[in-house]
Amino acid sequence: MSYYEITGGRSLSGSLAIHGAKNSVLPILAACLLASGQSVIQNCPDLSDVSTTLDILRLLGCRADREGDTVVIDTTGLTRCDIPECLMREMRSSVIFLGALLARLGEAELSYPGGCELGPRPIDLHLTALRALGAEIMEEQGVLCCQGREKLEGREIYLPIPSVGATENAMLAACGCAGVTTIVGAAQEPEIIDLQGFLQAMGARVTGAGTERLSIEGGAPLHPAQYRVMGDRIAAVTYLCAAAAAGGEVEVTGVPPETLTAVLSCLREAGCTLRTGPDWAVLTSCGPLHGISTVRTAPYPGFPTDAQAILMAALAGGEGATLFVENMFDSRYRHVDELRRMGADIRIAGRAAMVSGVGKLHEAAVRSTDLRGGAALVVAALAAEGTSQVSELRHIRRGYQALDRNLRTLGADIRQIP
Ligand code: UD1
Repeated sequence: MSYYEITGGRSLSGSLAIHGAKNSVLPILAACLLASGQSVIQNCPDLSDVSTTLDILRLLGCRADREGDTVVIDTTGLTRCDIPECLMREMRSSVIFLGALLARLGEAELSYPGGCELGPRPIDLHLTALRALGAEIMEEQGVLCCQGREKLEGREIYLPIPSVGATENAMLAACGCAGVTTIVGAAQEPEIIDLQGFLQAMGARVTGAGTERLSIEGGAPLHPAQYRVMGDRIAAVTYLCAAAAAGGEVEVTGVPPETLTAVLSCLREAGCTLRTGPDWAVLTSCGPLHGISTVRTAPYPGFPTDAQAILMAALAGGEGATLFVENMFDSRYRHVDELRRMGADIRIAGRAAMVSGVGKLHEAAVRSTDLRGGAALVVAALAAEGTSQVSELRHIRRGYQALDRNLRTLGADIRQIP
Protein backbone atom coordinates (compact mmCIF):
# COMPACT_ATOMS: atom_id res chain seq x y z
CA MET A 1 0.00 0.00 0.00
CA SER A 2 1.58 3.28 -1.07
CA TYR A 3 1.50 6.47 0.95
CA TYR A 4 2.85 10.01 0.89
CA GLU A 5 5.65 10.91 3.24
CA ILE A 6 5.53 14.65 3.83
CA THR A 7 7.95 16.75 5.85
CA GLY A 8 6.16 19.94 6.72
CA GLY A 9 7.33 23.47 7.27
CA ARG A 10 8.71 24.29 3.82
CA SER A 11 7.15 27.32 2.23
CA LEU A 12 5.81 26.90 -1.31
CA SER A 13 6.55 29.06 -4.32
CA GLY A 14 5.98 28.88 -8.05
CA SER A 15 3.29 28.55 -10.66
CA LEU A 16 1.10 25.56 -11.59
CA ALA A 17 -1.08 24.99 -14.65
CA ILE A 18 -4.23 23.38 -13.25
CA HIS A 19 -5.53 20.23 -14.93
CA GLY A 20 -9.01 19.88 -16.43
CA ALA A 21 -11.99 19.70 -14.08
CA LYS A 22 -12.98 16.23 -12.91
CA ASN A 23 -16.59 17.28 -12.43
CA SER A 24 -16.78 18.69 -15.98
CA VAL A 25 -15.02 15.94 -17.84
CA LEU A 26 -17.12 13.07 -16.46
CA PRO A 27 -20.47 14.35 -17.85
CA ILE A 28 -18.74 15.57 -21.03
CA LEU A 29 -17.33 12.09 -21.69
CA ALA A 30 -20.79 10.61 -21.15
CA ALA A 31 -22.24 13.26 -23.49
CA CYS A 32 -19.99 11.97 -26.29
CA LEU A 33 -22.50 9.10 -26.56
CA LEU A 34 -25.15 11.51 -27.89
CA ALA A 35 -23.64 11.48 -31.40
CA SER A 36 -22.15 8.75 -33.52
CA GLY A 37 -18.50 9.34 -34.44
CA GLN A 38 -15.30 10.68 -33.02
CA SER A 39 -15.21 13.45 -30.39
CA VAL A 40 -11.96 14.98 -29.17
CA ILE A 41 -11.76 16.08 -25.54
CA GLN A 42 -8.78 18.27 -24.65
CA ASN A 43 -7.43 19.10 -21.18
CA CYS A 44 -8.77 15.73 -20.02
CA PRO A 45 -7.12 15.03 -16.64
CA ASP A 46 -5.49 11.67 -15.93
CA LEU A 47 -7.53 10.63 -12.89
CA SER A 48 -8.83 7.26 -11.76
CA ASP A 49 -12.45 8.49 -12.11
CA VAL A 50 -11.69 9.40 -15.73
CA SER A 51 -10.14 5.94 -16.32
CA THR A 52 -13.30 4.34 -14.93
CA THR A 53 -15.43 6.49 -17.25
CA LEU A 54 -13.29 5.47 -20.25
CA ASP A 55 -13.65 1.80 -19.19
CA ILE A 56 -17.43 2.23 -19.16
CA LEU A 57 -17.36 3.77 -22.66
CA ARG A 58 -15.21 0.87 -23.93
CA LEU A 59 -17.53 -1.67 -22.37
CA LEU A 60 -20.46 -0.04 -24.19
CA GLY A 61 -18.64 -0.63 -27.48
CA CYS A 62 -16.87 2.74 -27.95
CA ARG A 63 -13.18 3.34 -28.58
CA ALA A 64 -11.42 5.57 -26.07
CA ASP A 65 -7.79 6.53 -26.69
CA ARG A 66 -5.65 8.94 -24.73
CA GLU A 67 -2.64 10.86 -25.97
CA GLY A 68 -1.27 13.23 -23.33
CA ASP A 69 -4.19 15.27 -22.09
CA THR A 70 -6.31 14.64 -25.20
CA VAL A 71 -8.82 11.82 -25.27
CA VAL A 72 -10.52 10.66 -28.46
CA ILE A 73 -13.88 8.92 -28.04
CA ASP A 74 -15.29 7.06 -31.03
CA THR A 75 -18.88 6.04 -30.37
CA THR A 76 -19.46 4.42 -33.78
CA GLY A 77 -19.45 0.93 -32.25
CA LEU A 78 -21.89 1.71 -29.41
CA THR A 79 -23.77 -1.55 -28.97
CA ARG A 80 -24.66 -1.94 -25.31
CA CYS A 81 -26.81 0.05 -22.93
CA ASP A 82 -26.02 -1.79 -19.68
CA ILE A 83 -23.29 -1.01 -17.17
CA PRO A 84 -22.28 -3.77 -14.75
CA GLU A 85 -22.29 -3.30 -11.01
CA CYS A 86 -18.50 -3.50 -10.61
CA LEU A 87 -18.04 -0.32 -12.69
CA MET A 88 -21.04 1.46 -11.13
CA ARG A 89 -19.66 0.74 -7.67
CA GLU A 90 -16.27 2.15 -8.64
CA MET A 91 -17.69 5.63 -9.19
CA ARG A 92 -21.03 6.99 -8.06
CA SER A 93 -21.13 9.66 -10.73
CA SER A 94 -21.42 6.96 -13.44
CA VAL A 95 -25.17 7.48 -12.91
CA ILE A 96 -24.72 10.26 -15.51
CA PHE A 97 -24.75 7.54 -18.20
CA LEU A 98 -28.46 7.08 -17.55
CA GLY A 99 -29.44 10.32 -19.31
CA ALA A 100 -26.88 9.87 -22.12
CA LEU A 101 -27.94 6.28 -22.93
CA LEU A 102 -31.63 7.13 -22.76
CA ALA A 103 -31.14 10.01 -25.19
CA ARG A 104 -29.11 7.99 -27.68
CA LEU A 105 -30.53 4.45 -27.45
CA GLY A 106 -33.84 4.97 -25.67
CA GLU A 107 -32.88 2.51 -22.95
CA ALA A 108 -30.37 1.97 -20.18
CA GLU A 109 -29.70 -0.62 -17.51
CA LEU A 110 -27.52 0.36 -14.59
CA SER A 111 -27.02 -1.01 -11.13
CA TYR A 112 -28.09 1.36 -8.36
CA PRO A 113 -25.06 3.48 -7.37
CA GLY A 114 -25.88 3.25 -3.65
CA GLY A 115 -24.02 5.07 -0.88
CA CYS A 116 -20.50 6.44 -0.89
CA GLU A 117 -17.94 7.77 1.52
CA LEU A 118 -19.91 11.02 1.95
CA GLY A 119 -22.89 9.15 3.35
CA PRO A 120 -26.06 8.15 1.51
CA ARG A 121 -26.37 9.96 -1.81
CA PRO A 122 -29.85 9.48 -3.21
CA ILE A 123 -30.64 9.68 -6.93
CA ASP A 124 -34.37 10.31 -6.53
CA LEU A 125 -34.10 13.71 -8.26
CA HIS A 126 -32.32 12.13 -11.26
CA LEU A 127 -35.09 9.54 -11.59
CA THR A 128 -37.93 12.05 -11.11
CA ALA A 129 -36.44 14.29 -13.81
CA LEU A 130 -36.06 11.43 -16.30
CA ARG A 131 -39.56 10.13 -15.54
CA ALA A 132 -40.91 13.65 -16.16
CA LEU A 133 -39.44 13.37 -19.67
CA GLY A 134 -41.37 10.16 -20.24
CA ALA A 135 -38.84 7.49 -19.25
CA GLU A 136 -40.19 4.37 -17.56
CA ILE A 137 -37.85 3.39 -14.77
CA MET A 138 -38.11 0.21 -12.75
CA GLU A 139 -35.91 -0.69 -9.85
CA GLU A 140 -35.44 -4.43 -9.36
CA GLN A 141 -32.94 -5.91 -6.93
CA GLY A 142 -30.60 -2.97 -7.17
CA VAL A 143 -30.85 -2.70 -10.97
CA LEU A 144 -32.42 0.30 -12.69
CA CYS A 145 -34.13 -0.58 -15.96
CA CYS A 146 -34.98 2.52 -17.99
CA GLN A 147 -37.05 2.59 -21.16
CA GLY A 148 -37.74 5.69 -23.17
CA ARG A 149 -37.82 4.60 -26.78
CA GLU A 150 -40.16 6.90 -28.73
CA LYS A 151 -41.70 8.09 -25.48
CA LEU A 152 -39.32 10.84 -24.49
CA GLU A 153 -40.81 14.29 -24.80
CA GLY A 154 -39.60 17.72 -23.71
CA ARG A 155 -41.36 19.01 -20.58
CA GLU A 156 -40.83 21.37 -17.68
CA ILE A 157 -38.79 19.78 -14.89
CA TYR A 158 -38.59 21.27 -11.41
CA LEU A 159 -35.66 20.38 -9.16
CA PRO A 160 -36.46 21.12 -5.50
CA ILE A 161 -32.69 20.95 -4.75
CA PRO A 162 -30.22 22.30 -7.33
CA SER A 163 -28.53 18.91 -7.73
CA VAL A 164 -25.52 19.03 -10.06
CA GLY A 165 -25.85 15.40 -11.18
CA ALA A 166 -29.63 15.54 -11.67
CA THR A 167 -29.29 18.75 -13.74
CA GLU A 168 -26.66 17.09 -15.94
CA ASN A 169 -28.65 13.88 -16.35
CA ALA A 170 -31.75 15.86 -17.32
CA MET A 171 -29.74 17.98 -19.81
CA LEU A 172 -28.39 14.87 -21.54
CA ALA A 173 -31.74 13.08 -21.66
CA ALA A 174 -33.48 16.25 -22.90
CA CYS A 175 -31.17 16.34 -25.92
CA GLY A 176 -32.84 13.12 -27.05
CA CYS A 177 -36.41 14.35 -26.46
CA ALA A 178 -38.65 15.87 -29.06
CA GLY A 179 -39.64 19.41 -28.06
CA VAL A 180 -38.43 21.86 -25.46
CA THR A 181 -37.36 20.90 -21.93
CA THR A 182 -37.07 23.55 -19.25
CA ILE A 183 -35.19 22.73 -16.07
CA VAL A 184 -36.31 25.03 -13.28
CA GLY A 185 -34.21 25.10 -10.10
CA ALA A 186 -31.14 23.90 -12.03
CA ALA A 187 -27.68 23.76 -10.46
CA GLN A 188 -25.64 26.81 -11.45
CA GLU A 189 -22.15 25.33 -11.06
CA PRO A 190 -19.49 26.34 -13.65
CA GLU A 191 -19.30 22.66 -14.66
CA ILE A 192 -22.91 22.93 -15.92
CA ILE A 193 -21.81 25.82 -18.15
CA ASP A 194 -18.94 23.64 -19.40
CA LEU A 195 -21.33 20.79 -20.22
CA GLN A 196 -23.60 23.26 -22.04
CA GLY A 197 -20.52 24.44 -24.02
CA PHE A 198 -19.78 20.90 -25.17
CA LEU A 199 -23.42 20.17 -26.02
CA GLN A 200 -23.58 23.40 -28.06
CA ALA A 201 -20.38 22.34 -29.86
CA MET A 202 -22.24 19.10 -30.75
CA GLY A 203 -25.05 21.17 -32.26
CA ALA A 204 -27.47 20.98 -29.31
CA ARG A 205 -29.72 23.96 -28.60
CA VAL A 206 -29.08 24.42 -24.89
CA THR A 207 -29.23 27.80 -23.13
CA GLY A 208 -29.39 29.19 -19.62
CA ALA A 209 -26.52 27.32 -17.92
CA GLY A 210 -25.22 29.32 -14.97
CA THR A 211 -28.78 30.41 -14.11
CA GLU A 212 -31.51 28.47 -12.33
CA ARG A 213 -33.47 28.00 -15.57
CA LEU A 214 -32.12 25.89 -18.41
CA SER A 215 -33.75 25.35 -21.76
CA ILE A 216 -33.02 22.45 -24.10
CA GLU A 217 -34.62 22.25 -27.53
CA GLY A 218 -34.29 18.54 -28.20
CA GLY A 219 -34.45 16.46 -31.30
CA ALA A 220 -31.74 18.33 -33.25
CA PRO A 221 -29.34 15.82 -34.81
CA LEU A 222 -26.04 16.03 -32.92
CA HIS A 223 -22.56 15.57 -34.30
CA PRO A 224 -19.24 14.72 -32.64
CA ALA A 225 -17.22 17.72 -31.45
CA GLN A 226 -13.86 18.91 -30.24
CA TYR A 227 -13.87 20.62 -26.84
CA ARG A 228 -11.43 21.88 -24.20
CA VAL A 229 -12.50 21.15 -20.62
CA MET A 230 -12.34 24.03 -18.10
CA GLY A 231 -9.71 24.00 -15.32
CA ASP A 232 -10.46 22.26 -12.03
CA ARG A 233 -11.48 24.90 -9.49
CA ILE A 234 -11.16 22.54 -6.52
CA ALA A 235 -7.63 21.46 -7.51
CA ALA A 236 -6.78 25.18 -7.82
CA VAL A 237 -8.03 26.02 -4.34
CA THR A 238 -6.20 22.99 -2.93
CA TYR A 239 -2.82 24.43 -4.06
CA LEU A 240 -3.78 27.91 -2.84
CA CYS A 241 -4.81 26.54 0.57
CA ALA A 242 -1.52 24.60 0.72
CA ALA A 243 0.41 27.85 0.24
CA ALA A 244 -1.84 29.66 2.73
CA ALA A 245 -1.08 26.98 5.34
CA ALA A 246 2.61 26.31 4.65
CA GLY A 247 3.54 29.88 3.66
CA GLY A 248 4.94 31.27 0.41
CA GLU A 249 3.55 32.53 -2.87
CA VAL A 250 1.78 30.29 -5.39
CA GLU A 251 0.15 31.05 -8.72
CA VAL A 252 -2.49 28.81 -10.29
CA THR A 253 -3.29 29.22 -13.98
CA GLY A 254 -5.96 27.86 -16.32
CA VAL A 255 -8.89 28.54 -13.97
CA PRO A 256 -11.17 31.60 -14.15
CA PRO A 257 -10.87 33.23 -10.70
CA GLU A 258 -14.57 34.13 -10.60
CA THR A 259 -15.22 30.39 -10.09
CA LEU A 260 -13.07 30.56 -6.92
CA THR A 261 -14.61 33.68 -5.35
CA ALA A 262 -16.14 32.08 -2.23
CA VAL A 263 -12.86 30.37 -1.26
CA LEU A 264 -10.62 33.31 -2.19
CA SER A 265 -12.65 35.64 0.01
CA CYS A 266 -12.16 33.25 2.98
CA LEU A 267 -8.41 33.11 2.33
CA ARG A 268 -8.29 36.93 2.15
CA GLU A 269 -10.18 37.21 5.43
CA ALA A 270 -7.74 34.70 6.97
CA GLY A 271 -4.91 37.13 6.21
CA CYS A 272 -3.56 36.16 2.76
CA THR A 273 -3.03 38.54 -0.14
CA LEU A 274 -4.69 37.53 -3.40
CA ARG A 275 -4.29 38.88 -6.90
CA THR A 276 -6.28 37.61 -9.87
CA GLY A 277 -6.25 37.94 -13.68
CA PRO A 278 -8.37 36.53 -16.50
CA ASP A 279 -7.45 32.88 -15.86
CA TRP A 280 -5.08 32.98 -12.91
CA ALA A 281 -4.84 33.68 -9.19
CA VAL A 282 -1.78 34.32 -6.99
CA LEU A 283 -1.82 33.82 -3.24
CA THR A 284 0.83 35.37 -1.02
CA SER A 285 0.93 34.18 2.54
CA CYS A 286 1.36 36.89 5.21
CA GLY A 287 2.02 34.74 8.29
CA PRO A 288 -0.25 32.46 10.32
CA LEU A 289 -3.89 32.28 9.22
CA HIS A 290 -6.55 33.94 11.41
CA GLY A 291 -9.96 32.59 12.29
CA ILE A 292 -12.71 33.82 9.93
CA SER A 293 -16.47 34.27 9.93
CA THR A 294 -18.67 31.17 9.63
CA VAL A 295 -18.01 29.07 6.54
CA ARG A 296 -21.31 27.59 5.30
CA THR A 297 -21.21 25.18 2.39
CA ALA A 298 -23.89 25.86 -0.23
CA PRO A 299 -24.66 25.32 -3.91
CA TYR A 300 -22.65 27.54 -6.29
CA PRO A 301 -21.91 30.44 -6.00
CA GLY A 302 -21.79 29.61 -2.27
CA PHE A 303 -18.80 28.04 -0.53
CA PRO A 304 -18.18 24.64 -2.22
CA THR A 305 -18.58 21.57 -0.05
CA ASP A 306 -15.61 20.09 -1.92
CA ALA A 307 -13.33 22.80 -0.45
CA GLN A 308 -14.61 22.49 3.14
CA ALA A 309 -12.09 19.90 4.39
CA ILE A 310 -9.20 21.60 2.58
CA LEU A 311 -9.82 25.07 4.06
CA MET A 312 -10.46 23.48 7.46
CA ALA A 313 -7.06 21.76 7.36
CA ALA A 314 -5.35 25.08 6.58
CA LEU A 315 -7.16 26.95 9.39
CA ALA A 316 -6.63 24.15 11.95
CA GLY A 317 -2.90 24.96 12.00
CA GLY A 318 -3.53 28.73 12.13
CA GLU A 319 -4.61 31.01 14.96
CA GLY A 320 -8.14 31.81 16.11
CA ALA A 321 -11.45 30.03 15.75
CA THR A 322 -13.69 29.34 12.73
CA LEU A 323 -17.10 27.72 12.64
CA PHE A 324 -17.88 25.48 9.65
CA VAL A 325 -21.42 24.42 8.74
CA GLU A 326 -21.71 21.56 6.23
CA ASN A 327 -25.07 21.87 4.51
CA MET A 328 -24.58 19.64 1.48
CA PHE A 329 -23.65 16.14 2.66
CA ASP A 330 -23.84 14.05 5.83
CA SER A 331 -20.60 12.31 6.80
CA ARG A 332 -18.44 15.05 5.38
CA TYR A 333 -16.36 15.49 8.54
CA ARG A 334 -14.57 12.13 8.35
CA HIS A 335 -11.22 13.91 7.94
CA VAL A 336 -11.67 15.53 11.36
CA ASP A 337 -10.55 12.48 13.37
CA GLU A 338 -7.41 12.31 11.23
CA LEU A 339 -6.70 16.04 11.66
CA ARG A 340 -7.07 15.54 15.42
CA ARG A 341 -4.25 12.97 15.26
CA MET A 342 -2.12 15.84 14.00
CA GLY A 343 -3.06 17.95 17.03
CA ALA A 344 -6.05 19.82 15.56
CA ASP A 345 -8.68 21.14 17.98
CA ILE A 346 -12.01 20.55 16.22
CA ARG A 347 -15.37 19.90 17.89
CA ILE A 348 -18.30 18.59 15.90
CA ALA A 349 -21.98 19.06 16.73
CA GLY A 350 -24.27 17.80 13.97
CA ARG A 351 -23.63 19.83 10.83
CA ALA A 352 -21.32 22.27 12.66
CA ALA A 353 -17.59 21.96 13.31
CA MET A 354 -15.76 24.47 15.51
CA VAL A 355 -12.09 24.73 14.55
CA SER A 356 -9.79 26.38 17.10
CA GLY A 357 -6.42 27.07 15.49
CA VAL A 358 -3.56 25.52 17.49
CA GLY A 359 -0.72 27.54 15.93
CA LYS A 360 0.98 24.50 14.44
CA LEU A 361 -0.08 20.91 13.77
CA HIS A 362 2.36 18.06 14.35
CA GLU A 363 3.39 14.93 12.48
CA ALA A 364 1.20 11.81 12.42
CA ALA A 365 0.35 8.77 10.31
CA VAL A 366 -3.10 9.50 8.89
CA ARG A 367 -5.52 7.89 6.41
CA SER A 368 -7.41 9.58 3.59
CA THR A 369 -11.09 9.00 4.23
CA ASP A 370 -12.38 10.37 0.91
CA LEU A 371 -11.09 12.41 -2.03
CA ARG A 372 -11.16 15.93 -0.56
CA GLY A 373 -10.51 14.66 2.98
CA GLY A 374 -7.29 13.10 1.65
CA ALA A 375 -6.24 16.37 -0.01
CA ALA A 376 -6.96 18.15 3.29
CA LEU A 377 -4.55 15.84 5.14
CA VAL A 378 -1.83 16.62 2.59
CA VAL A 379 -2.40 20.36 3.14
CA ALA A 380 -2.23 19.85 6.92
CA ALA A 381 0.98 17.78 6.67
CA LEU A 382 2.69 20.39 4.44
CA ALA A 383 2.28 22.95 7.23
CA ALA A 384 2.85 20.62 10.20
CA GLU A 385 6.02 20.05 12.19
CA GLY A 386 7.88 16.81 11.43
CA THR A 387 7.31 14.04 8.92
CA SER A 388 3.76 12.74 8.39
CA GLN A 389 2.44 9.82 6.38
CA VAL A 390 -0.81 10.07 4.42
CA SER A 391 -2.15 6.70 3.25
CA GLU A 392 -5.14 5.46 1.18
CA LEU A 393 -3.99 7.45 -1.85
CA ARG A 394 -6.60 5.77 -4.07
CA HIS A 395 -9.07 8.41 -2.86
CA ILE A 396 -6.74 11.25 -3.83
CA ARG A 397 -6.07 9.76 -7.30
CA ARG A 398 -9.77 10.03 -8.08
CA GLY A 399 -9.45 13.80 -8.37
CA TYR A 400 -5.82 14.98 -8.45
CA GLN A 401 -3.35 14.40 -11.25
CA ALA A 402 0.26 14.20 -9.98
CA LEU A 403 -0.49 15.94 -6.67
CA ASP A 404 2.90 14.98 -5.18
CA ARG A 405 4.90 15.99 -8.27
CA ASN A 406 3.11 19.35 -8.49
CA LEU A 407 3.77 20.07 -4.82
CA ARG A 408 7.46 19.13 -5.23
CA THR A 409 7.67 21.65 -8.09
CA LEU A 410 6.51 24.25 -5.59
CA GLY A 411 9.27 23.22 -3.15
CA ALA A 412 7.36 20.83 -0.88
CA ASP A 413 9.08 17.82 0.67
CA ILE A 414 6.66 15.09 -0.38
CA ARG A 415 7.47 11.60 -1.67
CA GLN A 416 5.28 8.70 -2.63
CA ILE A 417 6.40 5.47 -0.96
CA PRO A 418 7.10 2.83 -2.23
C1 UD1 B 1 -21.53 16.94 -7.47
C2 UD1 B 1 -20.03 16.85 -7.52
C3 UD1 B 1 -19.45 16.77 -6.12
C4 UD1 B 1 -19.97 17.94 -5.28
C5 UD1 B 1 -21.50 18.03 -5.34
C6 UD1 B 1 -22.05 19.28 -4.65
C7 UD1 B 1 -19.65 15.64 -9.58
C8 UD1 B 1 -19.16 14.39 -10.24
N1 UD1 B 1 -19.66 15.64 -8.24
O1 UD1 B 1 -22.01 15.74 -6.87
O2 UD1 B 1 -18.03 16.83 -6.21
O3 UD1 B 1 -19.58 17.75 -3.93
O4 UD1 B 1 -21.93 18.08 -6.72
O5 UD1 B 1 -21.51 20.41 -5.21
O6 UD1 B 1 -19.97 16.60 -10.24
N2 UD1 B 1 -29.61 15.00 -3.68
C9 UD1 B 1 -30.81 14.37 -3.43
N3 UD1 B 1 -31.35 13.58 -4.41
C10 UD1 B 1 -30.75 13.40 -5.62
C11 UD1 B 1 -29.52 14.05 -5.88
C12 UD1 B 1 -28.97 14.84 -4.90
O7 UD1 B 1 -31.37 14.52 -2.35
O8 UD1 B 1 -31.29 12.70 -6.46
C13 UD1 B 1 -28.99 15.86 -2.64
C14 UD1 B 1 -27.65 15.30 -2.18
O9 UD1 B 1 -27.81 14.33 -1.16
C15 UD1 B 1 -26.97 16.55 -1.68
C16 UD1 B 1 -27.49 17.64 -2.62
O10 UD1 B 1 -28.65 17.10 -3.23
O11 UD1 B 1 -27.36 16.85 -0.39
C17 UD1 B 1 -26.53 18.06 -3.71
O12 UD1 B 1 -26.01 16.91 -4.36
P1 UD1 B 1 -25.63 16.93 -5.89
O13 UD1 B 1 -25.51 18.33 -6.38
O14 UD1 B 1 -26.55 16.03 -6.63
O15 UD1 B 1 -24.19 16.26 -5.88
P2 UD1 B 1 -23.55 15.34 -6.98
O16 UD1 B 1 -24.04 15.76 -8.34
O17 UD1 B 1 -23.66 13.92 -6.58
